[in-house]
Amino acid sequence: MDSPSSTRKPRRGDRLEGMILRYDRRGLAHGSSGDYTFSLRTGVPGDRLGFQVHKRRRHHLDGRSAELIEEGAARVQAPCRHSESCGGCAFQSCDYGVQLEQKHLLVSEALSAAGLTDLPEVEAVLGCENPWRYRNKMEFTFGNRRWVAPHEPEGVDADFAVGLHAPGLYLKVIDLAECHIVFEQGEAILGTARELAREQQLPLWDIREHVGFLRHLVLRHGVHTGEVMVNVVTSEENCALFEPFARGLLEAHPEITTLIQSINEGVADVAVGEREIVLHGPGYIEEELLGLRFRISARSFFQTNTLQAERLFEIVREEAALNGDEVVYDLYSGAGTIALMVAPAVREVLAFEQVADAVADARLNAERNEVRNVRFFEGDVLTEIDATLAPDSVLARPDVVLVDPPRAGLHPKMVGKLLELAPERLVYVSCNLHNGAQDIAHLIEGGYRIQRIRPVDLFPHTPHVECVVTLTR
Ligand SMILES: C[S@@+](CC[C@H](N)C(=O)[O-])C[C@H]1O[C@@H](n2cnc3c(N)ncnc32)[C@H](O)[C@@H]1O
Repeated sequence: MDSPSSTRKPRRGDRLEGMILRYDRRGLAHGSSGDYTFSLRTGVPGDRLGFQVHKRRRHHLDGRSAELIEEGAARVQAPCRHSESCGGCAFQSCDYGVQLEQKHLLVSEALSAAGLTDLPEVEAVLGCENPWRYRNKMEFTFGNRRWVAPHEPEGVDADFAVGLHAPGLYLKVIDLAECHIVFEQGEAILGTARELAREQQLPLWDIREHVGFLRHLVLRHGVHTGEVMVNVVTSEENCALFEPFARGLLEAHPEITTLIQSINEGVADVAVGEREIVLHGPGYIEEELLGLRFRISARSFFQTNTLQAERLFEIVREEAALNGDEVVYDLYSGAGTIALMVAPAVREVLAFEQVADAVADARLNAERNEVRNVRFFEGDVLTEIDATLAPDSVLARPDVVLVDPPRAGLHPKMVGKLLELAPERLVYVSCNLHNGAQDIAHLIEGGYRIQRIRPVDLFPHTPHVECVVTLTR
């Protein structure tokens, strides 16, 4: 490895040193080294690192094979042995307070990248009281192509893994012996699933050849109810293979309140099935949020950090500033959480969601919580909203709209529909402000103004940050 002379440009293989300054929205650590900026998959703001140049693009270098020269003040001991290889929590070597400051910067960057200036101050990111064991849902992958660490001896067993995909390596799965963000019983169930799959010699899915039996292990937990769902995604039903595996899980974990086998015969690497077979329990779990009880089935979206979702929904309720007489639209309503939470404070809520199971859960949730002023509409929100906009529609127009779209943000046509709906107040909940900020920029062009920007951390140790942006007309 060469060090570049002061006159020539750095080349692949050169070794340089530099200081990490910040994280980016993909979780990469960025720093500066002389006239160049660089990015690495590792490092904590404040660290001084040596690295090898992998690629040069103008004044930016992609680095590899980093080596810590001097620890920064923000560096902490990562509790997980997989922290350097697993992409699940890229920031776990960084002090949690510094993570929150970094997320604050990411929010500001996303807003300015969308051309949004002259805004109210971005408020401090509301952090978690406990940033560990916060995930009430985890999707693990079974795979026959294990990611092998550079220090492992040659010939190591590389055809068996249950865990998460290695970052940037879609084909490889890290065999996770521990995971500190999943709920506690979840980690133990992961271990049992691994042992049983080995003992029973169950074929693990080959993501390239599309053969094998076990595909995904999806775990869900009701934090306030203690209920646990295990959903095993397999490539076919095959009772002879599945029953002993299911029995083993239930015997080892009496805390499992429902066990589902989902059959995914397709090639797409998704942890849902075309068909579900309930082998134990009711096929769903229940969770409580801010005093309401929710039924959650395998396909329903539900916020993955229960305690922090409660903080998020309190903020949404505050920002909606309801006085008891409004018509509220909840767009992208999932299992009805936000709709049911605001219902007691308004005249009526109209909620829109496309996943049929989520809408079924939502209707049941309304009934069981004795909420009678919410109507749920099933279908693509874009088409469903058209019905409310039709001149002969009997549906009331909204005073307040709450939108909580998926990571991609709003469909481009949806912004136009929101402008036609023209609510006085619009609360945009974004789980990916990089996309959300573009939507917000269009809403501002259409006559809205931002009132408040309140980020909430639902995903410690990852680059993700949720943000509630309140707009008024
Ligand atoms: C981020 S989740 C929000 C769910 C809910 N607000 C909550 O907090 O539990 C986004 C939801 O949008 C739904 N969705 C995605 N695209 C949609 C579309 N085109 N029309 C209606 N719903 C959609 C998803 O199924 C998911 O339930």
